[in-house]
Amino acid sequence: MTKIIAHRGASAIAPENTMPAFKKAIEMGCKGIETDVHMTKDGVLVLCHDEKVDRTTDGKGFIKDYTLKELKKLDAGVKFSHEFAGVHIPTLEELLIYLFDKDIYLNIEIKLGGFYYPDIEAKVLELLYKYNYVEKTIISSFNHYSLVEVRKLDSDVKTAILYMEGLYKPWEYAKTVGANMLHPCFEGVNREIIQEAKINKMPITVFTVDERKEIERFISYGVYGIITNYPDRVMTILKNKK
Ligand code: G3P
Ligand code: CA
Repeated sequence: MTKIIAHRGASAIAPENTMPAFKKAIEMGCKGIETDVHMTKDGVLVLCHDEKVDRTTDGKGFIKDYTLKELKKLDAGVKFSHEFAGVHIPTLEELLIYLFDKDIYLNIEIKLGGFYYPDIEAKVLELLYKYNYVEKTIISSFNHYSLVEVRKLDSDVKTAILYMEGLYKPWEYAKTVGANMLHPCFEGVNREIIQEAKINKMPITVFTVDERKEIERFISYGVYGIITNYPDRVMTILKNKK
Protein backbone atom coordinates (compact mmCIF):
# COMPACT_ATOMS: atom_id res chain seq x y z
CA MET A 1 0.00 0.00 0.00
CA THR A 2 1.32 3.44 -0.93
CA LYS A 3 2.44 5.47 2.09
CA ILE A 4 0.69 8.81 2.44
CA ILE A 5 2.83 11.55 3.97
CA ALA A 6 1.24 14.85 5.00
CA HIS A 7 3.50 17.62 3.68
CA ARG A 8 4.30 20.00 6.57
CA GLY A 9 1.32 18.34 8.32
CA ALA A 10 -2.19 18.80 6.97
CA SER A 11 -1.02 22.11 5.55
CA ALA A 12 -4.09 22.72 3.37
CA ILE A 13 -6.35 23.03 6.43
CA ALA A 14 -4.00 24.27 9.16
CA PRO A 15 -0.84 26.43 9.30
CA GLU A 16 2.08 24.42 7.89
CA ASN A 17 4.59 22.84 10.27
CA THR A 18 2.55 23.61 13.39
CA MET A 19 1.16 21.20 15.98
CA PRO A 20 -2.44 21.74 14.75
CA ALA A 21 -1.33 20.74 11.22
CA PHE A 22 0.37 17.56 12.50
CA LYS A 23 -2.55 16.69 14.78
CA LYS A 24 -5.14 17.24 12.06
CA ALA A 25 -3.25 14.96 9.67
CA ILE A 26 -3.19 12.18 12.25
CA GLU A 27 -6.81 12.75 13.30
CA MET A 28 -7.93 12.30 9.69
CA GLY A 29 -6.21 8.91 9.68
CA CYS A 30 -3.00 9.79 7.88
CA LYS A 31 -0.08 7.58 8.95
CA GLY A 32 2.78 9.76 7.72
CA ILE A 33 4.07 13.29 8.38
CA GLU A 34 6.74 15.36 6.68
CA THR A 35 8.39 18.32 8.38
CA ASP A 36 11.35 20.69 7.99
CA VAL A 37 13.95 21.32 10.67
CA HIS A 38 16.07 24.41 11.39
CA MET A 39 18.10 25.52 14.40
CA THR A 40 17.73 28.54 16.68
CA LYS A 41 20.56 30.77 17.89
CA ASP A 42 20.66 28.77 21.14
CA GLY A 43 20.85 25.42 19.32
CA VAL A 44 17.25 24.20 19.53
CA LEU A 45 15.71 22.30 16.60
CA VAL A 46 12.49 23.91 15.40
CA LEU A 47 10.00 23.10 12.65
CA CYS A 48 9.52 25.62 9.88
CA HIS A 49 9.90 25.46 6.11
CA ASP A 50 11.75 28.70 5.42
CA GLU A 51 15.04 29.89 6.91
CA LYS A 52 13.19 33.08 7.73
CA VAL A 53 10.03 33.52 9.76
CA ASP A 54 8.59 36.27 7.55
CA ARG A 55 6.17 34.25 5.41
CA THR A 56 4.57 32.06 8.09
CA THR A 57 4.66 34.23 11.23
CA ASP A 58 4.13 37.82 12.33
CA GLY A 59 7.90 38.21 12.80
CA LYS A 60 10.86 38.98 10.57
CA GLY A 61 14.35 37.58 10.07
CA PHE A 62 16.31 34.34 10.18
CA ILE A 63 15.52 31.54 12.63
CA LYS A 64 19.26 31.30 13.36
CA ASP A 65 19.14 34.82 14.83
CA TYR A 66 16.36 34.01 17.32
CA THR A 67 16.65 32.22 20.65
CA LEU A 68 13.88 29.70 21.26
CA LYS A 69 12.33 32.04 23.83
CA GLU A 70 12.20 34.87 21.29
CA LEU A 71 10.89 32.59 18.53
CA LYS A 72 8.09 31.31 20.76
CA LYS A 73 6.73 34.87 21.01
CA LEU A 74 5.88 34.81 17.29
CA ASP A 75 2.45 33.87 16.01
CA ALA A 76 2.70 31.09 13.42
CA GLY A 77 -1.04 30.68 12.94
CA VAL A 78 -2.68 34.03 12.38
CA LYS A 79 -1.41 34.52 8.80
CA PHE A 80 -3.11 31.27 7.83
CA SER A 81 -6.37 32.09 9.60
CA HIS A 82 -7.56 33.93 12.73
CA GLU A 83 -8.88 30.59 13.92
CA PHE A 84 -5.22 29.62 14.52
CA ALA A 85 -4.05 32.85 16.18
CA GLY A 86 -1.68 32.14 19.06
CA VAL A 87 -0.16 28.99 17.53
CA HIS A 88 3.65 28.91 17.82
CA ILE A 89 6.53 27.42 15.88
CA PRO A 90 7.01 23.95 17.44
CA THR A 91 10.27 22.31 18.39
CA LEU A 92 11.16 18.90 16.97
CA GLU A 93 11.07 17.65 20.55
CA GLU A 94 7.43 18.75 20.96
CA LEU A 95 6.48 16.80 17.85
CA LEU A 96 8.34 13.70 19.05
CA ILE A 97 6.65 13.90 22.46
CA TYR A 98 3.29 13.99 20.65
CA LEU A 99 4.24 11.08 18.34
CA PHE A 100 5.94 9.01 21.05
CA ASP A 101 3.14 6.45 21.54
CA LYS A 102 1.84 6.60 17.96
CA ASP A 103 2.68 4.53 14.93
CA ILE A 104 3.38 7.39 12.53
CA TYR A 105 5.96 7.43 9.74
CA LEU A 106 8.00 10.59 10.21
CA ASN A 107 9.96 12.28 7.44
CA ILE A 108 12.34 14.90 8.83
CA GLU A 109 13.86 17.14 6.19
CA ILE A 110 17.08 18.78 7.32
CA LYS A 111 17.08 22.27 5.85
CA LEU A 112 20.54 23.54 5.06
CA GLY A 113 20.25 26.30 2.53
CA GLY A 114 22.54 29.29 2.59
CA PHE A 115 24.32 28.40 5.83
CA TYR A 116 25.20 25.39 7.96
CA TYR A 117 23.61 24.74 11.37
CA PRO A 118 26.43 23.28 13.51
CA ASP A 119 25.83 19.64 14.47
CA ILE A 120 22.24 19.63 13.25
CA GLU A 121 22.54 15.97 12.22
CA ALA A 122 23.77 14.87 15.66
CA LYS A 123 21.02 16.87 17.35
CA VAL A 124 18.30 15.28 15.19
CA LEU A 125 19.65 11.80 15.95
CA GLU A 126 19.91 12.54 19.67
CA LEU A 127 16.20 13.40 19.82
CA LEU A 128 15.19 10.39 17.72
CA TYR A 129 17.00 8.09 20.14
CA LYS A 130 15.66 9.91 23.19
CA TYR A 131 12.07 9.33 22.01
CA ASN A 132 12.69 5.89 20.50
CA TYR A 133 11.64 7.08 17.04
CA VAL A 134 14.59 6.01 14.89
CA GLU A 135 12.83 3.07 13.26
CA LYS A 136 9.78 5.13 12.27
CA THR A 137 11.80 8.01 10.82
CA ILE A 138 13.34 8.81 7.48
CA ILE A 139 15.74 11.75 7.31
CA SER A 140 15.87 13.55 3.98
CA SER A 141 17.69 16.58 2.62
CA PHE A 142 18.50 18.43 -0.57
CA ASN A 143 21.94 18.82 1.01
CA HIS A 144 23.45 15.38 0.47
CA TYR A 145 26.55 16.24 2.49
CA SER A 146 24.20 16.37 5.45
CA LEU A 147 22.98 12.84 4.65
CA VAL A 148 26.60 11.64 4.53
CA GLU A 149 27.08 13.20 7.97
CA VAL A 150 23.98 11.42 9.29
CA ARG A 151 25.31 8.12 7.96
CA LYS A 152 28.74 8.73 9.52
CA LEU A 153 27.04 9.20 12.87
CA ASP A 154 24.52 6.38 12.60
CA SER A 155 24.21 3.25 10.50
CA ASP A 156 20.58 2.44 11.36
CA VAL A 157 18.45 5.47 10.59
CA LYS A 158 17.02 5.54 7.05
CA THR A 159 17.89 8.47 4.81
CA ALA A 160 16.59 9.73 1.45
CA ILE A 161 18.05 12.05 -1.15
CA LEU A 162 15.78 14.92 -2.13
CA TYR A 163 16.25 16.16 -5.69
CA MET A 164 14.55 18.12 -8.44
CA GLU A 165 16.42 16.97 -11.55
CA GLY A 166 16.08 13.87 -13.70
CA LEU A 167 19.09 12.14 -12.15
CA TYR A 168 20.52 9.24 -14.15
CA LYS A 169 20.29 5.97 -12.19
CA PRO A 170 19.62 7.79 -8.92
CA TRP A 171 19.65 4.46 -7.03
CA GLU A 172 23.38 4.17 -7.81
CA TYR A 173 24.16 7.73 -6.80
CA ALA A 174 22.08 7.41 -3.59
CA LYS A 175 24.31 4.54 -2.44
CA THR A 176 27.37 6.84 -2.61
CA VAL A 177 25.86 9.04 0.12
CA GLY A 178 24.64 6.05 2.13
CA ALA A 179 20.95 6.73 1.44
CA ASN A 180 18.18 4.11 1.49
CA MET A 181 15.46 5.85 -0.48
CA LEU A 182 14.77 8.39 -3.21
CA HIS A 183 12.58 11.46 -2.71
CA PRO A 184 12.38 13.17 -6.13
CA CYS A 185 10.10 15.96 -7.29
CA PHE A 186 7.24 14.11 -9.01
CA GLU A 187 7.81 15.96 -12.29
CA GLY A 188 11.17 14.24 -12.85
CA VAL A 189 10.07 10.60 -12.60
CA ASN A 190 8.04 8.16 -14.65
CA ARG A 191 6.84 4.57 -14.44
CA GLU A 192 10.15 3.09 -15.67
CA ILE A 193 12.25 4.97 -13.13
CA ILE A 194 9.92 4.00 -10.29
CA GLN A 195 9.99 0.35 -11.27
CA GLU A 196 13.73 0.21 -11.87
CA ALA A 197 14.35 1.91 -8.51
CA LYS A 198 12.18 -0.72 -6.84
CA ILE A 199 14.16 -3.53 -8.49
CA ASN A 200 17.31 -1.86 -7.18
CA LYS A 201 15.82 -1.78 -3.66
CA MET A 202 15.72 2.00 -3.54
CA PRO A 203 12.02 2.88 -3.10
CA ILE A 204 10.71 6.17 -4.46
CA THR A 205 8.54 8.63 -2.57
CA VAL A 206 7.45 11.55 -4.75
CA PHE A 207 6.79 15.12 -3.63
CA THR A 208 4.52 17.12 -3.68
CA VAL A 209 1.54 15.51 -5.39
CA ASP A 210 -1.83 17.18 -4.90
CA GLU A 211 -3.82 16.77 -8.14
CA ARG A 212 -6.20 13.81 -8.27
CA LYS A 213 -5.00 12.62 -11.70
CA GLU A 214 -1.36 12.76 -10.66
CA ILE A 215 -2.11 10.93 -7.40
CA GLU A 216 -3.89 8.16 -9.34
CA ARG A 217 -1.03 7.99 -11.84
CA PHE A 218 1.64 7.50 -9.18
CA ILE A 219 -0.45 4.95 -7.30
CA SER A 220 -0.81 2.98 -10.55
CA TYR A 221 3.01 3.07 -10.95
CA GLY A 222 3.38 1.40 -7.56
CA VAL A 223 5.26 4.28 -5.97
CA TYR A 224 6.38 3.65 -2.36
CA GLY A 225 5.08 6.93 -0.97
CA ILE A 226 3.34 10.18 -1.85
CA ILE A 227 4.09 13.43 -0.04
CA THR A 228 0.98 15.60 -0.33
CA ASN A 229 -0.73 18.66 1.04
CA TYR A 230 -4.03 16.74 0.76
CA PRO A 231 -3.65 13.44 2.64
CA ASP A 232 -7.45 13.07 2.83
CA ARG A 233 -7.63 13.14 -0.97
CA VAL A 234 -5.01 10.42 -1.35
CA MET A 235 -6.67 8.31 1.36
CA THR A 236 -10.04 8.52 -0.45
CA ILE A 237 -8.48 7.52 -3.77
CA LEU A 238 -6.73 4.54 -2.15
CA LYS A 239 -9.94 3.45 -0.34
CA ASN A 240 -11.97 3.58 -3.55
CA LYS A 241 -9.43 1.44 -5.33
CA LYS A 242 -9.96 -1.49 -2.93
O1 G3P B 1 10.20 16.50 1.28
C1 G3P B 1 9.61 16.93 0.14
C2 G3P B 1 9.41 18.40 0.08
O2 G3P B 1 9.02 18.86 1.33
C3 G3P B 1 10.63 19.13 -0.36
O3 G3P B 1 10.37 20.44 -0.71
O4 G3P B 1 10.43 22.84 -0.36
O5 G3P B 1 8.43 21.57 0.35
O6 G3P B 1 10.55 21.37 1.61
P1 G3P B 1 9.94 21.60 0.27
CA1 CA C 1 10.11 19.73 3.16
